Amino acid sequence: MAVSVVIGAQWGDEGKGRVVDYLARDAAIVVRYQGGNNAGHTVAAGDKELKLHLIPSGILHPDTLCVIADGVVIDPAVLVEEMATLRSQGISLDNLRISGNAHVIMPYHRLLDTLEEERRGGSKIGTTGRGIGPAYADKAARKGLRISDLVSDRMVERARPVIEEKSALLQAVYGAEALDVMAILDQMATYADQLRPYVDDTISLVTSAVAEGRNVLCEGAQGTMLDIDHGTYPYVTSSHTVAGGACLGTGIGPRHIDRVIGVNKAYTTRVGRGSFPTELHDATGDWIRKQGAEFGTTTGRARRCGWLDMVALRFAVAVNSLDSLALTKLDVLTGLPTVCIGVGYKIDGKVRDSLPHLQEEFDRSEPVYEELPGWTEDITGARRLADLPTNARRYLERVETLAGVPLSILSVGPRRDQALILD
Ligand code: GDP
Ligand code: IMO
Ligand code: MG
Repeated sequence: MAVSVVIGAQWGDEGKGRVVDYLARDAAIVVRYQGGNNAGHTVAAGDKELKLHLIPSGILHPDTLCVIADGVVIDPAVLVEEMATLRSQGISLDNLRISGNAHVIMPYHRLLDTLEEERRGGSKIGTTGRGIGPAYADKAARKGLRISDLVSDRMVERARPVIEEKSALLQAVYGAEALDVMAILDQMATYADQLRPYVDDTISLVTSAVAEGRNVLCEGAQGTMLDIDHGTYPYVTSSHTVAGGACLGTGIGPRHIDRVIGVNKAYTTRVGRGSFPTELHDATGDWIRKQGAEFGTTTGRARRCGWLDMVALRFAVAVNSLDSLALTKLDVLTGLPTVCIGVGYKIDGKVRDSLPHLQEEFDRSEPVYEELPGWTEDITGARRLADLPTNARRYLERVETLAGVPLSILSVGPRRDQALILD
């Protein structure tokens, strides 16, 4: 396995958590490297179902080190709560390590996220409201506080002027109340005490594991189309969700990445606003939402549903240099008389099969579909390709051909064992 990167090839929620949980059995380290608790990764194994927001999806494997790396933004309140929930489920956190370089999501980041969305009125982004954008903005503006600050005795000195500045901004621009500086600092001190034992130099940890040739698995959050540069700007998140983000967020050099796996659903979903050419606004879309339980792991919002978008997927293959696809939720399509694949976009009367460079063109794109016959047989018990009905196999073959990369994993149900390993 050496160094593998697992990324979302669509707009998030593709099933990265379950794929990482599966691959983590062979990994010495699993690293979360970007995003924050806007992510919600589900792992269902045995009698356990975990909803992870910050802790890597390898946590059920006691011999695998789980690292939250430099590129992540951490809300200490959320992390402390997530750790408590896992402990109450009998899961050990002895193998957790947190980078001192990761940035802290402060209470004012959450407030600014929500108030800024309100101010946007009709042009809301539909963020998760977790303070992700404001925290990354402060990091870029070099006003961020890092985990190493949080757990040190310089926290008060570093944080006070920033909190005072944010308080002035919140009052003047957003008409909010002044921040209680002391209350925030006290709260942060209690989180610091709980996180301090886990803080480490994760760059050294990860890069020495790579140098020793041990298996390192990098766990992406969100998806390619939500990337700050390559996604559907401005309806994106604030981090680098593409595979290159794994290098930036962990400190692993690009030449050490051996394999990149793109996770994608057999259809498409999107949460929040922004164009979505293959979105279904009809009974089929509602049916997919119901069958696939398409409600957000983090915010509970109903996910927008539509057909597989091959134009976007081919883009993901290119910008992530995908070696293979892990296709999830094929079982959800069972029972549909026909299944469609978006194979092109019609823009101003012209059909193209690649993503337009200009966002305005993407917004005007109408899908061009290829229709395939559906299947009705229950496939949740399939463990080999031969167990699948002919029409399901035809669908998969078509996906592989159109994507130009092979399928390495196919999942036919949420549980760990409901997967076919194809390579
Ligand atoms: P992530 O953010 O990419 O890790 O994905 P989420 O956990 O937010 O959403 C994926 C959802 O689909 C979770 O509820 C999973 O349990 C579920 N899931 C994953 N793979 C499959 C599958 O093959 N079939 C079905 N029916 N559900 C799946
Ligand atoms: P996982 O890792 C799906 C979306 C939000 C919104 C946009 C910006 O579970 O796949 P943000 O709070 O990041 O500023 O919101 O990005 N978004 C996600 N959608 N899955 C996610 O994570 C997401 N994280 C953010 O809905 O449209
Ligand atoms: Mg999710």
